[in-house]
Amino acid sequence: MTTRVVIRQWAEPVAVEPGATILEAALAAGVPYPHGCRSGNCGACKSRLLSGEVEMTPYSEYALTESERRAGLILACRSTVWDDAEVAWLETEDMMVHPRRQLTCRVIGRATVTHDIVRLRLAITAGGPFTFSAGQYCALTFDGLAARDYSMANRPDEDELEFHIRRLDGTDPARNASAYAFDRLSLGDSVSAEGPFGTAYLRELHAGPIIAVAGGSGLAPIKSIVEAVLSRGAGQPIHLYFGVRSERDLYLEDHLAGLAARHANLHFVPVLSEPRGATARRTGLVTDAVAADMTSLDGCKVYTAGPPVMVEAMTATAIELGARREDIHADAFYTEADKLKLRAAS
Ligand code: FES
Repeated sequence: MTTRVVIRQWAEPVAVEPGATILEAALAAGVPYPHGCRSGNCGACKSRLLSGEVEMTPYSEYALTESERRAGLILACRSTVWDDAEVAWLETEDMMVHPRRQLTCRVIGRATVTHDIVRLRLAITAGGPFTFSAGQYCALTFDGLAARDYSMANRPDEDELEFHIRRLDGTDPARNASAYAFDRLSLGDSVSAEGPFGTAYLRELHAGPIIAVAGGSGLAPIKSIVEAVLSRGAGQPIHLYFGVRSERDLYLEDHLAGLAARHANLHFVPVLSEPRGATARRTGLVTDAVAADMTSLDGCKVYTAGPPVMVEAMTATAIELGARREDIHADAFYTEADKLKLRAAS
């Protein structure tokens, strides 16, 4: 039996099919429901249950603590309903909700920046105006393949969209978006983009220090956040860490070093976890580099994006260093294989 969920911030009730989560139903109905991982790990869909009951599949303690659950909070991406219910997503002072758009774009720039990452520039040709907050992402569709999520790497005030797409190992360009983008996508090609999505975006009201930690192509949203902060000229300290395996995985290093040279408040630290041969760079895990450099993250905003293992480690490190949970904005890049594993485990 289909049930109805009233969402406090949305005019129309949403129909929820049996087995669907509140988040799935809301997104299918076009509601810009705040969310991130869709798998109970990030806490971005945290909501208050105002009436009714939900059943929740397993989730991470990082996403929702026991005391929050007891206080009536739920994760919309883990919650199914058996009867009508009412929920409200959590709002903070600096929460941003942008209209969701279906864009048609054209490829106007592409550069292979590492052995497995392509940097794309897209011009919006239809479906705008498009607004987003630095750190958010879109679902991109190439040549009719299944849509995949990629973060914008440009500042929100720039007209062209920029994406960094890592080719997943062993994938087929006829079936996989990342392989298609890396192997086949050409200048002039059309790309569909839906968004923006994601809650690990820049909190504009925060004026304190920023710790920005990227792993691999997780540099895209972190670059957008760092450049957006620099462009407003507030002068708050920004510590940008970029963790990759070896030299061949580093990209945009000159660009980021150039930004740091021009902005005294930006400190840029590339870190190699598996250097090939001797190197003068920082080595080890990027999270260990942050822990070695920082004595306290109390009062800092922490933005982190990249592989789930790194993002989870960075979240744990930030909490150990005194960051408040609500000041950590994490964007773990789950592959479809990761998502399947998470679903199987739940
Ligand atoms: S915990 Fe629900 S979207 Fe991440």
